[in-house]
Amino acid sequence: MMTSNRPQCVAQDAAAKPFAGALPRIETIDDIKDACTRRMLVGVMTRYLEASAYTAGCGMEERNFLDEVTSMLDIRHVSMLCEGIGFKESARNGIAMLTGVGDTDLHLEMEYLDHLVESSPRMGKKLGGHLLDIGSSVGALTHETRRTYGAESVGVDIDRNAIKLGKFLGVKGLVAIEENDYALPFNDERFDAVLMRSVLNCPQADEIVVNAMIREAARVVKRDGIIIISGYTDSDDAELRRVGLVMSTSSSRLWTVWTRGDRSCAPA
Ligand SMILES: C[S@@+](CC[C@H](N)C(=O)[O-])C[C@H]1O[C@@H](n2cnc3c(N)ncnc32)[C@H](O)[C@@H]1O
Repeated sequence: MMTSNRPQCVAQDAAAKPFAGALPRIETIDDIKDACTRRMLVGVMTRYLEASAYTAGCGMEERNFLDEVTSMLDIRHVSMLCEGIGFKESARNGIAMLTGVGDTDLHLEMEYLDHLVESSPRMGKKLGGHLLDIGSSVGALTHETRRTYGAESVGVDIDRNAIKLGKFLGVKGLVAIEENDYALPFNDERFDAVLMRSVLNCPQADEIVVNAMIREAARVVKRDGIIIISGYTDSDDAELRRVGLVMSTSSSRLWTVWTRGDRSCAPA
């Protein structure tokens, strides 16, 4: 007797994807209209990124949960993006800042930036101008500088998955750049301010990459612009001075501010 598996498969598919067909296509997080669902999705993304931040193969239980949720919503690509991100703790931190779900130390760093802005109106003007966030990950600082200072912020990262996830979360101005091409896709002297948070000290960046990033930052910043860095080391310091930059006296403990000798960024 001939039997057919087909009806059974269809039934299984339907069971695995109870909402398939019922939901509109979701391309950005704004497409998820229900705030509870949005919050739950961010919550499971965050839990997976947190669990797998430090050890490869970790977070399988969380990954399965994330798969289940994204499958239900028909947005499996979000699960793939989370898995593909290189710096998971940075992405988790960024998502917490962008969504208000979970803890993040980025608020503290924004507070220090605010102090710098308060200390010098000139600095405030730069941070509210054209701003480049190099190594933006999902773009938390790209977004925050836009929101807080009204900057025309652009964020670049070699991690395509982080950039795509940031776009999914609604961050504007994110651009993925080629990993082996150190040249930034911007004209000389395009930006008033360049921000590099925890990028020069990132484990993947050897001396060649760090020096190339510094040279490119110096090229794309205006003559009277500023470069603001966190997590810098002595060797970066040498390269920054070599390309003609000097550290401003208005630097804070968390951020150092570099200019081409423009004293007007010093505290009033
Ligand atoms: C430790 S994370 C910091 C992310 C973000 N700035 C923050 O503060 O959370 C370092 C980021 O720099 C990126 N990165 C590393 N080398 C880079 C390069 N040459 N150009 C642009 N981004 C780079 C990594 O992909 C990663 O997203």
